[in-house]
Amino acid sequence: MIRRLHPDQPDSFAFSPENQKWAEAQLTKYPQGREASAIIPLLWRAQEQEGWLSRPAVEFVADMLNMAHIRALEVATFYFMFQLRPVGSAAHVQVCGTLSCMICGAEDLIDICKEKISPTPHTISNDGKLSWEEVECLGACTNAPMAQIGKDYYEDLSNERFEELIEEWRNGSAPSPGPQNGRFSVEPSVGLTSLLEGEGSGPSENKSVSLAKKFNDTIKKIDGTEVKVSVHWNKQ
Ligand code: FES
Repeated sequence: MIRRLHPDQPDSFAFSPENQKWAEAQLTKYPQGREASAIIPLLWRAQEQEGWLSRPAVEFVADMLNMAHIRALEVATFYFMFQLRPVGSAAHVQVCGTLSCMICGAEDLIDICKEKISPTPHTISNDGKLSWEEVECLGACTNAPMAQIGKDYYEDLSNERFEELIEEWRNGSAPSPGPQNGRFSVEPSVGLTSLLEGEGSGPSENKSVSLAKKFNDTIKKIDGTEVKVSVHWNKQ
């Protein structure tokens, strides 16, 4: 698949002040002269801020790292995790279409995306809110089928629940991520069969879900104010 920059590009890009601070802090992780090693996290943060990666954003990051623009463009166009075209303003839905998810119903989820979002992937819905794509295994096979939005996984999806989620994302709410069928994490879907001590006495949500809800960043653009910048590796 050839990945090209989108024909319509914004005039400019700049990190938000907090993201700029975060990006500069990342550079201190690397030895002098090796700052280009920060290319992936910086491009990723630019995408988190804007939703997608524009040419001005790639070039801005390249300039920060003293890299030739073409080197940064090579990275951005190589990795599929970088969105090179605008995505839905509320959410970009990444549906896993690999083996476990496919066996457990991913084809139905993709049909729902075609019907409720747009007939083709990487195409923004008519209301501008949503877009979707099929992706390869996201490593949550025990909770198949699943989809990713931003940082969060929505797992154990039924068709009905997925349709509801699409409407919730569309309305701007950030529904609780994680298993959508009442499972805590990856225990058997029929309930625990071993390690039963303390069952029911722990938290009601796994850590990943509780952190996602705490930061509420599921469908939010990341401007850097969410978590205080910490440069604990840089104590001099
Ligand atoms: S096959 Fe879908 S997460 Fe692995």
